[in-house]
Amino acid sequence: MRGIILAGGHGTRLHPVTRAVSKQLLPVYDKPMIYYPLSVLMTAGIREILIISNPEHLDAYRQLLGSGAELGLELSYLPQDKPRGLADALIVGQDFVGDEQVALILGDNIFYGPHLPELLRAERGRLTGCTLFGHTVPDPQRFGVAELDPSGRVVSLEEKPRNPRSDLAVVGLYFYDNEAIARAAALAPSARGELEITDLNRTFVDSGEARLVSLGPDCVWFDTGTHDSLLTASLFVQNLQQREGRSIARLDEIALAMGFVDGPVRSRAEPALAAPRTH
Ligand code: TTP
Repeated sequence: MRGIILAGGHGTRLHPVTRAVSKQLLPVYDKPMIYYPLSVLMTAGIREILIISNPEHLDAYRQLLGSGAELGLELSYLPQDKPRGLADALIVGQDFVGDEQVALILGDNIFYGPHLPELLRAERGRLTGCTLFGHTVPDPQRFGVAELDPSGRVVSLEEKPRNPRSDLAVVGLYFYDNEAIARAAALAPSARGELEITDLNRTFVDSGEARLVSLGPDCVWFDTGTHDSLLTASLFVQNLQQREGRSIARLDEIALAMGFVDGPVRSRAEPALAAPRTH
């Protein structure tokens, strides 16, 4: 399975901060935001990863993460000349994906859960069609919402519904089989001129091939696209690391634990990861 991180977009909700700076380079406590989705792909066992961003920001990502060799990864970079929507990532990345399956993750989504790596690896193994991931939220009106049948198959997907049929929000991580590339290419742009990920996912719902897996109550999920959620995520990471002594998105630790590298990693990422531990 190949991985794609979407690190472009408009970032309008974070203006003026993101007028000149790419959102996914902003710090979430002690690391650039993109480390968090990158760490999720790594813990899922994915090593060939494409980073997509706006043309003017792509070099900054290259400078930050390089070839990925120090982490045992193969990183590629491609521009999205305009923010044409999340499903456009599969068109931009089609040569990169080739004949493989693909995991798409939003560059501003943060996940933390002790069982998440196992869950993602298990779902990779059983993927046909698409697998979406869901999280129970108190305010489903703000999200894409999935309705499931008892077997976990998705029967409907609604974007920001006024009267949600469930409280399961679809989070920014999607597993697709190779069919998704052709399906993305066949999508028509929405009224806002974007190739919508929900439209792509609906094609899998219609063919009966969309599963949704709940991340479970012990998983924490943030979409860090607003000033408040960015601050909340930073405080969460600070608390996790300093008070609970746990680690999140330490790329060097993950590379070692996953067996991507042999010895201690001397990574350009290392200084940013060397947060002091209190105990
Ligand atoms: P969003 O947060 O939905 O959009 P945005 O980043 O443009 O922000 P805003 O709504 O505040 O204007 O995007 C989700 C993620 O996907 C985010 O990490 C940016 C990225 N993205 C792209 O890379 N390309 C795109 O065409 C779009 C729409 C988003």
